[in-house]
Amino acid sequence: MKEKISILVTGGAGFLGSIMVPALLEKGYRVTVLDNFMFKQNSLATSCADPSFCVVKGDARDESVLKKLKKKLKKL
Ligand SMILES: NC(=O)c1ccc[n+]([C@@H]2O[C@H](COP(=O)([O-])OP(=O)(O)OC[C@H]3O[C@@H](n4cnc5c(N)ncnc54)[C@H](O)[C@@H]3O)[C@@H](O)[C@H]2O)c1
Repeated sequence: MKEKISILVTGGAGFLGSIMVPALLEKGYRVTVLDNFMFKQNSLATSCADPSFCVVKGDARDESVLKKLKKKLKKL
């Protein structure tokens, strides 16, 4: 079976991410969103049921968060 390519989208719950993330999932990518949800938005609600989708609440400027995500994505 062909392995899925993983994509990290920072700020993915925003305007651009809410369009791009469902499109990437539709194309067969595995998508992880890192967002701090500063607007308390639920723009990715429809993507949550997709097993190839993962969301992490955190600050994209936080190096430790990015390091953890990098490790996790390498394992996928
Ligand atoms: N209805 C519309 O037409 C509309 C609405 C919004 C934006 N826009 C346009 O879209 C473009 C911007 O879209 P966008 O998606 O880049 O911006 P956005 O503001 O819509 O989204 C930014 C996302 O990044 C997140 N974020 C911010 N700081 C963060 C941090 N430090 N760590 C993690 N997450 C963080 C926010 O929570 C948000 O989800 C602009 O051109 C704007 O004019 C259009």
